[in-house]
Amino acid sequence: MPIDIRSDTVTKPSPAMRRAIAEAEVGDDVLDGDPTTRKLEEKVAALLGKERALFFPSGTMANQCAILTHCERGTEVYADFGSHVNDWELAGAAALAGAQVRTVHGEGPMMDAQALERCFRPPLSGSPRASLVCLENTHNGAGGLVTPLAGIKAMHDVARNHDCAVHLDGARLWNASAATGTPLRDFAQYADTVMVSFSKGLGAPIGAALVGTAEAMERANEHRKRLGGVMRQSGIASAGALYGLEHNLDRLEEDHEKATNFAMIVDRAIAASVVPPDSNIVMIDLTPGLSAHDVVRRVAEHGVKVGVWTPTRVRAVMHLNVSPAEVEKAAEAVLTGLDEAWKALGDTSEWPAIPRR
Ligand SMILES: Cc1ncc(COP(=O)(O)O)c(C=O)c1O
Repeated sequence: MPIDIRSDTVTKPSPAMRRAIAEAEVGDDVLDGDPTTRKLEEKVAALLGKERALFFPSGTMANQCAILTHCERGTEVYADFGSHVNDWELAGAAALAGAQVRTVHGEGPMMDAQALERCFRPPLSGSPRASLVCLENTHNGAGGLVTPLAGIKAMHDVARNHDCAVHLDGARLWNASAATGTPLRDFAQYADTVMVSFSKGLGAPIGAALVGTAEAMERANEHRKRLGGVMRQSGIASAGALYGLEHNLDRLEEDHEKATNFAMIVDRAIAASVVPPDSNIVMIDLTPGLSAHDVVRRVAEHGVKVGVWTPTRVRAVMHLNVSPAEVEKAAEAVLTGLDEAWKALGDTSEWPAIPRR
């Protein structure tokens, strides 16, 4: 069996999680409610310090329902240029909410308060009005980097000064909290709505939640229903999420340690530069001339699956189904694949060295 570190979404439910799913108490969530889903929603709302939570089949649908909840048609959503809502949701803001995404480019690898402030347009006739600022923590595309609480607050304050709502894509907010020791609810206080995902580090097969005020969730629920996201015996899915929350939240630091070890080994490669990880994601930037597709193919021949993120960036993500020993083995395989790809380039003696971050 190959070691699969393409994503933290590849985890399989453990026998205990499967038992919890099999034994879940269920009801019709469209008619009179599903008790397991209700229990999960109450737990998540309390953890994040919000009035109400809604269970969703996916983080994408929850993000899109947040955008639908906050945005009027013909307004703008400000989001980081490498954010999930911008890069991986098929222009949903435009297609579903009739809103345009304006991408924010920070000085560093992620959006920051200064860059966000610069985006706001003067209120001139013809200029679209911003209705929503969408944050992401940890930031997947930047390599699982964490925006500390002060940075989140600063961006929230900019948004508020411009009468904008704030949505936080916290698919991996669990990891941001584990990495910094900042409680989830402290991050969540600086957003009107927060999405959290159960199918990543927590190891559940399905699901996400959106949290916010009761009034906002009332509106989000209408959108969820319209998109077909209110599920009948949803306890079959939410039981896995509940199990993940109860058993796998406190172990996320282990994944972060594995990422640090993996990065340390891969950073020995001459043909790549590793983004130092804050959490469980490791981005490997290739030296000019190498192709991520080629490197990923070579690494797979050594029994390890890593992912293509961009044509020159490879992504590896640590999760609960890989042991520290497997991670070490995987890192050595990545080194070998990189080395082979480098040698295949021929004479590189005249090439400039790849800049180290
Ligand atoms: C930051 C971020 N937001 C949203 C999502 C979407 O979640 P889902 O795959 O459940 O739709 C992902 C998935 O990888 C993600 O990384």
